[in-house]
Amino acid sequence: MPPADRYAVFGHPIAHSKSPLIHALFAEQTGERLTYAAQDVPPEVFETEARNFFAGGGKGLNCTVPLKELAWKIADRRSQRAERSRAVNTLALRPDGTIYGDNTDGVGLVRDLTINLQLPLKDLRILLLGAGGASRGVIGPLLEHGPARLVIANRTPEKAIRLAEEFGDLGPIKGSGFSDLSRESFDLVLNATAASLSGEVPELPENILRPGGCCYDLAYGSEPTPFVLWGLDAGAAVSVDGLGMLVEQAAEAFLIWRGIRPATRPVIDILKNREHRFWR
Ligand code: ATR
Repeated sequence: MPPADRYAVFGHPIAHSKSPLIHALFAEQTGERLTYAAQDVPPEVFETEARNFFAGGGKGLNCTVPLKELAWKIADRRSQRAERSRAVNTLALRPDGTIYGDNTDGVGLVRDLTINLQLPLKDLRILLLGAGGASRGVIGPLLEHGPARLVIANRTPEKAIRLAEEFGDLGPIKGSGFSDLSRESFDLVLNATAASLSGEVPELPENILRPGGCCYDLAYGSEPTPFVLWGLDAGAAVSVDGLGMLVEQAAEAFLIWRGIRPATRPVIDILKNREHRFWR
């Protein structure tokens, strides 16, 4: 029997990645023969390590923080959504030896919201916190679903304004600072800032969330993130972290590599149960 096809996730740090487990569960479920490893790769050696991986027979890579912009650069061809977000989280070796780059983060988020959480985005007022790489990856896919408006708010307002201008052709989008939001209220508030990593929540005006609205943290952890707790406190009917997005973006990557989309619900349930997660 030929050796199993090899895949990996590169990131820095990477020790706590759930991707190897997710892809192992996908492989088991679909009967695909493959291995998937996690490798700590600092940005300085990313290009060398990625090229070595593919030269050595590797078939596909996931790239996570802080490597997504570098992964965008080494792709020979990219999907439209990757081109637009200027970040790549999935690299695939094509039969002709070229490297294809895609970004499945945005579609992963939208699938978790619309399918798993049953929240149609059409006509919603959406607030997206943060104007870094995580926001850039999800703006296009969110706008595709026809929200009433998408406001990007950032600690450094100019970055949000610039990002809104860049995506202005795709739908009703505006950039602002946190304090300029005081007269608005939103149906859905998404946290794409790195504030959770330091245990913080962005400073938001009161009543920013419509009563019974939804809060979603693109980050995830084994405990509810500070933003998830903030959402519950602010009266959200649903306040969840990004575990579902993580599994959905992985399923889209698996589809690109193997041509088959695994069922995500059972995998989300397994991950939740492993960590005794009660809040989703
Ligand atoms: P990523 O790729 O994860 O998005 P990034 O590009 O470094 O990382 O962006 C981090 C985002 O989190 C930025 O929007 C940043 O705000 P600034 O542009 O003003 O720096 C935001 N951020 C980080 N820490 C924050 C905090 N404590 N409160 C609010 N926003 C924070």
